[in-house]
Amino acid sequence: MIIYDTQNTLKAFVKAQKLEGKTIGFIPTMGALHKGHLSLVRNAMTDNDIVFVSIFVNPTQFGNATDLEKYPRTLDADVALLKTLGKNVFVYAPSVTDIYNSDINAEKFSFDGLEFEMEGKFRTGHFDGVGTIVKRLFEIVTPDNAYFGEKDFQQLMIIKKLASKYKLPVHVIGCEIFREASGLAMSSRNQRLSDHAKKESAFIYKTLLEAKKKFGTKSALKVKEWVQNQFNKHPLLTLEYVEIANIKNLKTTKRKSKNETYRIFIAAFIENIRLIDNIALN
Ligand code: PAF
Repeated sequence: MIIYDTQNTLKAFVKAQKLEGKTIGFIPTMGALHKGHLSLVRNAMTDNDIVFVSIFVNPTQFGNATDLEKYPRTLDADVALLKTLGKNVFVYAPSVTDIYNSDINAEKFSFDGLEFEMEGKFRTGHFDGVGTIVKRLFEIVTPDNAYFGEKDFQQLMIIKKLASKYKLPVHVIGCEIFREASGLAMSSRNQRLSDHAKKESAFIYKTLLEAKKKFGTKSALKVKEWVQNQFNKHPLLTLEYVEIANIKNLKTTKRKSKNETYRIFIAAFIENIRLIDNIALN
């Protein structure tokens, strides 16, 4: 498998592929690949002639230096996994310098308010970092289609906004959350959980499913309070937030309106590791 580590070599290859009329699918990742990533790659393989996976732990989207330092880096294992998928899959694993030169800073973006909800309240500057890296990667890889998991639903919406605001010629495609048998949403961070914590974390999805049932008959506020109570009783998980938000603009709500579509979002800590999840409510 060819691993490109500089944008110049990658661009030359992509140019040649485009001249042959090939379409390009793209999955940006921070590595520590799991089955969820692989399902994104499989979707991309179905829709495109060739597929690029970028593996880059992006420093400008971490607010916390320890989180950045502790983020799992498993390039060899990632490449081995991708190899099993087929020969039309290519990797871009750049250095920080290849992406940022000497200026390791995020650009400032406006995502029409999407960036101030939920994750934006707890991870200041995070979406500027995500916007910076994804815009650069789109400009380097020039994909026809790019695939993102719905686990980071807010990120997905922000990247769609980024592509439309900057008229980037790429289709941004959201893909369903891939879950462990227990229901725990797949995440690179799960690798850092002890077996016990991993088992306990299935509580997040279980609670989301119960909340969905309650949403049929109760107000958004009541459902949120119920979720908060459930987490208060849990010995290991600490809830950071639960929100019910309109999927159009991610504005959080206490009262539901007819004809609107909502999702419920949770961020919680276990063993100092932050997990997020969300599901559609209606
Ligand atoms: O979702 C992620 O892994 C990252 O935020 C992304 C989109 C690869 C940007 O670094």
